[in-house]
Amino acid sequence: MRGGDFRIGVLGSGNGSNGEAIFEACARGRIPGQVVLVLTDVADAFIQERAQRRGIEARFIGPSRFKTKLEPELEEQAARMLRDAGVQLVALAGYMRVVKAPLLGAFAGRMLNVHPSLLPKFPGLRAWEQALMSGAKVTGCTVHFVEEGVDSGPIILQREVAVRDDDTPESLHERIQRVEHEIYPEAIRLFAEGKLKIDGRTVRIIES
Ligand code: GAR
Repeated sequence: MRGGDFRIGVLGSGNGSNGEAIFEACARGRIPGQVVLVLTDVADAFIQERAQRRGIEARFIGPSRFKTKLEPELEEQAARMLRDAGVQLVALAGYMRVVKAPLLGAFAGRMLNVHPSLLPKFPGLRAWEQALMSGAKVTGCTVHFVEEGVDSGPIILQREVAVRDDDTPESLHERIQRVEHEIYPEAIRLFAEGKLKIDGRTVRIIES
C-alpha cells in the first residue's frame, strides 16, 4: 500500500467541482495523498481558482488551435509538467478534450476520468441531457481508466441516479454531480492504495 504522499495531478476545463471533491478528500485524509498540480486548457477556468485557494499550483496549458484535443507539443508539455511534479496518477475532472498519445502514453494505466452517465451509455457531451432526451428512467455516473477513444476504458465504479419526471437538464446534472463527488474520490483512494487490478476489460477491487 502506498503512503499519504501519493501524488495526484488534476486536469480540468471548467467549474472544477470534481476537482474540489478530490482536494477535499485529500485534505480529510480520505485519499492518502495530495493534489500537487492542476492543469487547465481554459485560461479562466474556475478550477484554477479553486486550486489556488487551497495553495495548489495551477497552470494553463495552451492556447490550442483545436477544440477537441491539444496539439502534441502541448500534450508533451503537460506530460513533462506532471512528471516533473512527481505525479503518480492523473485525474481528469471535467477535462473536455480527448487525451492523445503524448499524454496518455506518459500515464498509461495511471489516468482516470469521471463521466456523468452509466457508460457505455451516453458517452460524449452533456450526457445528462442525452439521458433525459432518451426517456431513460435511470442514469448515473462512472469512473473509469482512460484509454484511446471518448469516454471508454475499464470501468472502476458506477452508481445509478434515478431520472425524475419533472427533471430539467440542470436538476438531473446536479444530482449526478453529487454522486460523482462521492465515487471519484473513492476510486482514487482505491487506486492510491493499490487495490485496483485490471483483468481484461474488468477492474477487480481487492479490498483486504
Ligand atoms: C462533470 O459532470 C463530469 O462528469 C463531466 O463534466 C462535468 C464537469 O464538472 N465530464 C464529462 O462529460 C467528460 N466526458 P466539474 O468541472 O464541476 O467537475
